[in-house]
Amino acid sequence: MPVIAIIGAQWGDEGKGKIVDLLAEKARVVVRFSGGDNAGHTVINHYGEFGLHLVPSGIFYPGVTCIIGNGVAINPAVLIGETAQLNQKGVDTSSLFISDRAHLIMPYHILLDGLEEQSRGGKAIGTTRKGIGPAFTDKTARLGIRVGDLLDREAFLERLRPILEYKNTILTKIYGADPLSLDEIYRQYCQYGEHLAPLIRETTVMLARALDRNELVMLEGAQGTLLDPDFGTYPYTTSSSPLAGGGCLGAGLGPTRIDRVLGVFKAYCTRVGSGPMPTELLDTTGGLIRERAHEYGTTTGRARRCGWFDGVAARFSTQVNGLTSIAITRLDVLDTLPQLKICVGYKLEGQTIDYFPGSITSLDRCQPIYEELPGWQSPTSDIRDYEKLPAQAKQYIARLEELTSCPVSIISVGARREETIHKAPIL
Ligand code: IMP
Repeated sequence: MPVIAIIGAQWGDEGKGKIVDLLAEKARVVVRFSGGDNAGHTVINHYGEFGLHLVPSGIFYPGVTCIIGNGVAINPAVLIGETAQLNQKGVDTSSLFISDRAHLIMPYHILLDGLEEQSRGGKAIGTTRKGIGPAFTDKTARLGIRVGDLLDREAFLERLRPILEYKNTILTKIYGADPLSLDEIYRQYCQYGEHLAPLIRETTVMLARALDRNELVMLEGAQGTLLDPDFGTYPYTTSSSPLAGGGCLGAGLGPTRIDRVLGVFKAYCTRVGSGPMPTELLDTTGGLIRERAHEYGTTTGRARRCGWFDGVAARFSTQVNGLTSIAITRLDVLDTLPQLKICVGYKLEGQTIDYFPGSITSLDRCQPIYEELPGWQSPTSDIRDYEKLPAQAKQYIARLEELTSCPVSIISVGARREETIHKAPIL
């Protein structure tokens, strides 16, 4: 049985939650491997509607082990709240485990995220203000506190004390903010530790055993490729890797173990927060897509920027992730449009380029070169068979396959599990 990574291939919010929820039925293990509660995975199923921030979208299947991997930064209050909400709606979370190596989001991370954003003024990144950047900064700076640290109270206090002293110096001396109380944070996090202790595991062992037993493992990405700190629109990115490669590091398995990489794309593009987006539509079509698709953030409620499908960015995303197939979501959003555009290249200082530039100053100057395709102007949400899609919709999908050199396996035409067309097998 293979390991399959399901990753966001644009700027996040591609609809990964639905795709993982759909496919997790066949899996035995689902691992979230990056990000934190900056993510919001919308899942609609027979239990109700959920906006999951930390819990893997496989949680709705009783036989599936769900792991929050070492690559995730966990806000324990959010995790405890999320599991309580799931339980209230009748979802069993007894198969949820968290890696002892995962880093914790601490109160100073959240404070600093807001203060750093404020200090950037007009150049703010537009973060979710969940403390993600400061938490991953601390991980790299070796100042992080990990989930496993909560299991030994004395050692935890020894670790927290000097770190908080340092953070309080920054809070008070640089930002003129009030210092945080060691006692309060310590007590609060000890309580979280007690609550979470039964879930904490050496999850790489669980994963290795599942692989030995030849079970189907899914790696659930968060955010999207173009928000990757290396390959995204740096510095307008997130702080951990949403790539398939990030799945190896954030779950704890070698690259040779991943057999399939499914990239999730929307049928158009959206982005939330600042940074370049070459195909952004600032006209009525952009507004129409936003309203029709209700493009507002699950985590922050912010309006998402909308634009045409960017074939250049999509090809780049396919390459850096080694995609083996693609899921196209929200095709139905385009149902009413008479004409569609796909970006097939960029014009940069009089030259035509077909690659996604690494520098945002170049990307900012890129003008999209569009190809126009006819719209289908008929509803697709009730269609389940690829052959029954209107000819123009099939032409649109075929062009996306051509531009990415990657086959489309799934087409989503609505939020519900059943509103899906299986075009080709993934496995
Ligand atoms: P952060 O991850 O909160 O630090 O935010 C950094 C950038 O990533 C901002 O532009 C956010 O809007 C964006 N971002 C973070 N998480 C998500 C997500 O789940 N979907 C879409 N954008 C996100």
